[in-house]
Amino acid sequence: MSQPPVEQRSAWRALAEHADDMGRRHLRELFAEHQGRFAAFSRQAAGLTLDLSKQRWDENTLALLLNLARDAGVPDAIRGLLAGERLNLSENRPALHTALRLPADARLEVEGEDLVPSVHSTLDRMAAMVERFHAGQWRGVTGKPIRDVVNLGVGGSDLGPLMVTHALADYRPEGIHRIDVHFASTMDGSQLADYLTRLNPETTLFVLSSKSFTTIDTLTNARTARDWLKARLLGGDRQEGVDEALVMRQHFIGVSASPDKMREWGIADEHQLEFWEWVGGRYSLWGAIGLPIALAVGMANFRELLAGAHNMDRHFSEAELGDNLPVLLALAGIWNVNFLDIRAHSILPYDGRLEYFAAYLEQLEMESNGKSVNHDGEPVGYSTCPVLWGQLGPNAQHAFYQLLHQGTQSVECDFIAPRVRYDDVADPATRDHLMSQHRLTLANCFAQSRALMLGDAALEDEGPRPGHKRYAGNQPSSTLLLDRLTPRTLGALVALYEHKVFVQATIWDINPFDQWGVELGKTLAGETRRILEHQAGLEGMDDSTRGLIEAVWEAESR
Ligand code: F6P
Repeated sequence: MSQPPVEQRSAWRALAEHADDMGRRHLRELFAEHQGRFAAFSRQAAGLTLDLSKQRWDENTLALLLNLARDAGVPDAIRGLLAGERLNLSENRPALHTALRLPADARLEVEGEDLVPSVHSTLDRMAAMVERFHAGQWRGVTGKPIRDVVNLGVGGSDLGPLMVTHALADYRPEGIHRIDVHFASTMDGSQLADYLTRLNPETTLFVLSSKSFTTIDTLTNARTARDWLKARLLGGDRQEGVDEALVMRQHFIGVSASPDKMREWGIADEHQLEFWEWVGGRYSLWGAIGLPIALAVGMANFRELLAGAHNMDRHFSEAELGDNLPVLLALAGIWNVNFLDIRAHSILPYDGRLEYFAAYLEQLEMESNGKSVNHDGEPVGYSTCPVLWGQLGPNAQHAFYQLLHQGTQSVECDFIAPRVRYDDVADPATRDHLMSQHRLTLANCFAQSRALMLGDAALEDEGPRPGHKRYAGNQPSSTLLLDRLTPRTLGALVALYEHKVFVQATIWDINPFDQWGVELGKTLAGETRRILEHQAGLEGMDDSTRGLIEAVWEAESR
């Protein structure tokens, strides 16, 4: 017999009751009452320290939340995820991003097939390609070594590689032929157009990254890139033997789960990297979609990234729920969203290398858990994914922190920083300055979470002050410290969030691995485009859309 919906079960109801009391407690009281909160609510794994002591909870809350996780079947779900069960019900497939980071000597038999050999054979093909680039042996049609690689992709085929490439920029290998990696995702062509004015077609290669190989944004950019190469390399007094086929072969690599579509588009068979339907787009940076990462930081560092993620996978599968970082992070989020009614979540890294981390998590979390029907297709009776946004913490301090400190919204915040940075800079004077800048950054990080927690109670002078100088505090936050930012800890950090999303989805009884919500917009865009292009067919449009289209036509006809 199927269970009643989660919000009608006793584990949920016990939390709701408990929240009646806890919801009235201020963080400053919780800290005053319990001296050892850091020890009680922080855990370490895979090079990460997670401090959850500034969540608006106590040990009783956590016990009730762990009970909820057990009641929702989280341990079984974790096992099923890692074993490759078909958890993505609406698309009838497993979600096996964790298989992409298994070591070569592991075995993972899913429906009668060991997946590890094919995962590693793709990694080996990537390694061979990267090696050719780094040896200066991948040449454009005029014989010059490729120097710039532009990744054309969007969503999961862009954000993961962009975020990691930026985060690990210090890890460029020395003594190789240098490859500069760029990213163009926007369908309006602005990023690409800029590259086309700056890059030399003779030494530029495009990676077409698209799981489906049908995404209009990417295919439109790809067509522009192809025509640019053809016009620049095939016009005038071109070298003998240089033709379109050679341009396609030497200047394009395709990465997709659809080899047929890559071939149809003109990607040479030997320059196709394939991945599998069982890897979700936003979970795909660990395989061939990670090619730009490997080109930027080298295959050895890419494998370190995988090893870090695998460490987190092992921790996720082996640690008790109460010590399990992804589970705890997920439960903090559930507590805030469902019991304290806090539905905004900000991601605030205190390290410039993590500039794109919030953008990456926006897709990971909101495309995964921005759902409102359960596994049976029935509307859920509770909130799911919060609105999530962020940017580099130090810059956000001068932008939207005002709202965090004195606005009317409760917001959960994740503060993220490495414990140490710059201690390896060779020049001692620069090292001292930079280490001090990092300490300044950490001081701001810790001070902000403290201010958000305590409000004006943190000030020594608690005397009366006007309303505009009052700080309510009581904003919950988590702090994540990386031992340092390395490929390994970054891999673990990303895997931590992937698993957090999965645990939340399990408790909310939603599918985190599909994204049907984005389809409606795509369908309507096709229809609207036909009308815009052909200047006909307005009849079926609503009044607003008609007015907007007519405004475009009017401007075009001037
Ligand atoms: O439209 C959403 C989406 O399908 C994402 O899930 C995906 O990461 C992105 O588009 C790009 O898709 P593809 O890799 O198939 O081009």
